[in-house]
Amino acid sequence: MRFAKLSLIVLILLAVLVPAASAQENGAGLTIGFSQIGSESAWRTAFTEAVQAEAEARGINLLFSDAQQSQENQIAAMRAWLAQGDVDAIVLAPVIESGWDDVLQEAADAGVPVIIVDRNVDSDPSLYVTRVSSDFVHEGRLAAAWLAAATSGNCNIVELYGTVGSAAAEDRHTGFSQVIDLFSNMTIIQSETGNFVRTEGKAVMESILSSEDPANICAVFAHNDDMAIGAIEAIKEAGLVPAQDILVVSVDAIPDIFDSMDAGETNATVELSPFMGGPAFDAVVATLNGEELPKWIPVGGGLYTSRAAYDADH
Ligand code: AHR
Repeated sequence: MRFAKLSLIVLILLAVLVPAASAQENGAGLTIGFSQIGSESAWRTAFTEAVQAEAEARGINLLFSDAQQSQENQIAAMRAWLAQGDVDAIVLAPVIESGWDDVLQEAADAGVPVIIVDRNVDSDPSLYVTRVSSDFVHEGRLAAAWLAAATSGNCNIVELYGTVGSAAAEDRHTGFSQVIDLFSNMTIIQSETGNFVRTEGKAVMESILSSEDPANICAVFAHNDDMAIGAIEAIKEAGLVPAQDILVVSVDAIPDIFDSMDAGETNATVELSPFMGGPAFDAVVATLNGEELPKWIPVGGGLYTSRAAYDADH
């Protein structure tokens, strides 16, 4: 009888002192759903691989879903995980900013924390734990500041836009515009979407070069390196010299863009780190352990005009 009473006291003490869903520091043993946008660019593929490698190193069971650029696919994957009740958390890389309120509310109702990575959502921040990302507006400003310095504030610009409605495209455009608006002779003369895809960047640039006098184009600002590389192919096929006749500045810092810089065909790129898996998984563990997190966990990056400068920083 006395033993039973003692056991009961020990059990009550354990229940009070040990949090029910306490997660290990690195997330080992957790099951996390990762809804990825797709594989539209080399950066996206590197990001997927980095998240998968981080999960494996930590012993996290990662349920990976490739949405192939479809928000409907992303929402369906999240609903399936919630219905099956088999995930401790969801990591969401949202293709566009709007349209997430309902599924985020469903996750909150189910008690499944959601971490936003890379692009942003326009939902109320109370519906997700935090966002791990770079500052896209700053990336646009860096690209524009480099271009303003390189041209002494005189430049007619072709903008190759990313996916319309995505935070990466909208915010890069905003930051870029904020800086060039400070210069009366810097103007975006054409802006068209290439959806962050290399072949689409090339097709858009071909069409622009056929409708615009190439002598009137000073530079291309591409929202990612893949579209820049596509544009460079189009510039060369038009008999022009990229990075000389038409300056090229973009975002991501993928290996291919440094090959292009080595060949003298790209001027500058702004780094977007693909290593967001670690901070995202740390955020999952922290929130499961009851910690409060800031609504934004920034990932840094700078502007590079050579492989040597990039290598020196990494
Ligand atoms: O959301 C980040 C952007 O998405 C990257 O700059 C681009 O390469 C990718 O497709």
